[in-house]
Amino acid sequence: MVFKVIRYKKVTSTNDVCQNLASEGAAHGTVVVSEYQEFGRGQRGNTWESEKSKNLTFSILTRPTFLSVVEQFYLSKITALSVTDWISAYIEKNRVKIKWPNDIYVDDKKIAGILIENSFSTQYINTSIIGIGININQDEFSDEVPNPTSLKIENGNEIDLELCLAEILECFKGRFAMLEQGQNYDIDKDYLNRIYRKDKYFTYLSGTTKFEAKIVGVEPTGELVLQTKSGEVKRFAFKEIGFVI
Ligand code: BTN
Repeated sequence: MVFKVIRYKKVTSTNDVCQNLASEGAAHGTVVVSEYQEFGRGQRGNTWESEKSKNLTFSILTRPTFLSVVEQFYLSKITALSVTDWISAYIEKNRVKIKWPNDIYVDDKKIAGILIENSFSTQYINTSIIGIGININQDEFSDEVPNPTSLKIENGNEIDLELCLAEILECFKGRFAMLEQGQNYDIDKDYLNRIYRKDKYFTYLSGTTKFEAKIVGVEPTGELVLQTKSGEVKRFAFKEIGFVI
């Protein structure tokens, strides 16, 4: 995978710019990075807040046409893994986890978010826009952002954003190559090993009901598999379940 990085000072959302470039035929590996996003988007229709020039907000255009629609959750897995691979070079590895499906946490705080937008042609993926926001040098966040942290808050050091981007792209390249080469077993294993709150009982929220359960797996579709104390196994899609943190 060869990257071509396009830099902006201000955009609406790097995912949107990347999407436009994709529709104009931009190549696999095109990266859009911006110092500021006016309308940074998060999952579930949320906004993504990021102070100007303090953090990384970027999107990678990929064309994983070898991947079928039913395998699309692998893109979430490899992206989350590449971000955790990179952060683990700066923060003690066992503190860096993937909060299902693809938030990146340090202990109980969110350091990075991922927004993947796919397009399909018949049963295969046509384009996948991989949007990544990582809090790097920001010290303070507005009260609206739930439990945020940054690399600087965690290790005290300010780091160069260009260097970070280059390192993260290398991590992404490695994980994408695993997918291309069909190393799905290793990707699954690495992803499960990194899952936040795995194998221990915690409180979850389904609708207005709170219940205790432990994460026992993630289905190929991306559904979370929880087991209650009575042994009952329940499966949840992304919008159906909340973590009580
Ligand atoms: C989330 O955790 O809700 C996902 C956040 C994703 C944010 C990134 S920043 C770069 C890219 N452009 C966007 O508008 N969103 C993603």
